[in-house]
Amino acid sequence: PGWAPAGHIDVGGGTGAATWAVAATWPGDRAVTVLDWSDPALALGREIAAAHPALGDARWQRARIGADLALPATDLVTVSYVLNEITPADRTALVDTAAASARAVVIVEAGTPAGYARVIEARDRLIAAGFRVAAPCPHSAACPIAPGEDWCHFSARVSRSSLHRQVKGGSLPYEDEKFSYVAATRLPVTPVPTRVIRRPQIRKGQVLLDLCEPDERLSRRTVTKRHGDLYKAARDASWGDGWPPADH
Ligand SMILES: C[S@@+](CC[C@H](N)C(=O)[O-])C[C@H]1O[C@@H](n2cnc3c(N)ncnc32)[C@H](O)[C@@H]1O
Repeated sequence: PGWAPAGHIDVGGGTGAATWAVAATWPGDRAVTVLDWSDPALALGREIAAAHPALGDARWQRARIGADLALPATDLVTVSYVLNEITPADRTALVDTAAASARAVVIVEAGTPAGYARVIEARDRLIAAGFRVAAPCPHSAACPIAPGEDWCHFSARVSRSSLHRQVKGGSLPYEDEKFSYVAATRLPVTPVPTRVIRRPQIRKGQVLLDLCEPDERLSRRTVTKRHGDLYKAARDASWGDGWPPADH
């Protein structure tokens, strides 16, 4: 709480989706650098961001992710949907380089078993480098999800324009993008008490919440009408939220 990055490097940033997300999360000015090896992606990203009040001065720079990638000291490094495109050795090197240069690192991958596995591997490396997990986990100990049995992921509804629908051959005006992520930092963290790790199931008079607990456990809690305000909050809870809400 109260922290905002003064500098941001988006590695494998492409057209800059993560820079837009960071600008929306932490309004205000900061030094932004987008690194990617694709000139066309950088050129398009620069063009799209030109009108954004906080991204007009961003640097769009050609760089190849590899063992020789050097990053200057910065507050925040994002690596979004990139780990799946690079070799295991480059993945390791990139996470270690990010950990060495940034005070906070956010890694996002597709919400698939393989994406989750890459996130967990990165999470382990960040913790080994002295980072603490700010989200989604309520702790920085081992993930309680048994590999191969399940995977931690969340879902974001993204609206589709008619052009999106045309290009993707879809008919719905939205898509539910599944993603896995970890946000870790060297700064003090206050993780959520527990995290809702599935879509809550609303039944008559009760809500079933699947939670990741702070003691390296998964649980299912049933919140009923008898819980009063908490029941109302449970009906409003979404997959990915912290539980209980901060005001309960
Ligand atoms: C799926 S896109 C993700 C782009 C952006 N981060 C986002 O979330 O929308 C993967 C990006 O990684 C870049 N990339 C893949 N391998 C790379 C490498 N070895 N060095 C630099 N960039 C790389 C690609 O050019 C592409 O822009």
